[in-house]
Amino acid sequence: MTNIAVIAGSVREGSYNRALAELAADSLEAQGARVTRIDLGAFDLPLYSAAIEAGAFPPDALRLKTLFAEQDALLFVSPEYNGSLPPLLKNAIDWASRPTGDEGLVALTAYRGKAAAIMSASISPFGGLRGLMHLRQILSTVQMLVIPEQVVVPNAHAAFAEDGSLKEPLPASLVEMTAARLVAVAGALAT
Ligand code: FNR
Repeated sequence: MTNIAVIAGSVREGSYNRALAELAADSLEAQGARVTRIDLGAFDLPLYSAAIEAGAFPPDALRLKTLFAEQDALLFVSPEYNGSLPPLLKNAIDWASRPTGDEGLVALTAYRGKAAAIMSASISPFGGLRGLMHLRQILSTVQMLVIPEQVVVPNAHAAFAEDGSLKEPLPASLVEMTAARLVAVAGALAT
């Protein structure tokens, strides 16, 4: 079975991106993936510093890296902050990119050669598109294969129905399409 972690880039109560991540996780499961939902609020990650790393690798950074390393693919669902991704998510990606144990400097065991997909919900009419451009570039830098499909949910404050579903059929269908492609690509890469 294909293992996929879904990582939300917001820990805000009532977060639109967490709501979108939940829909995406459901869709991945419906398409046969084994999904791990990752709440970054459950990880005690200091802001990356070489001095902290040299002293002792933070246990939760290792826990997150190990969790990523166990996956066939990663799906990131993130807000856009000032045209980029939030420090919460960038810091998590950075910690999990660091070598541990006997690994070489650019081993990138959490990421290398795996499929990734990206989604964003934003209160703006652009749906967090600029943040996704940065996120795509960062994930490519850590040697992930980011699939071309992506999802933006604009006007997120008005986009979700009471039951958590998306009101508009277009973003809803894009979630399904992106999840299907991620499962297919992750499966193909694992063979
Ligand atoms: C934002 N927001 C925002 N939205 C956007 O579309 N483009 C942007 O550049 C920014 N910049 C930005 C900076 C900071 C510091 C904050 C706190 C917010 C608004 C953002 O879309 C909104 O807060 C979302 O609700 C955040 O996502 P969650 O927490 O609902 O998932």
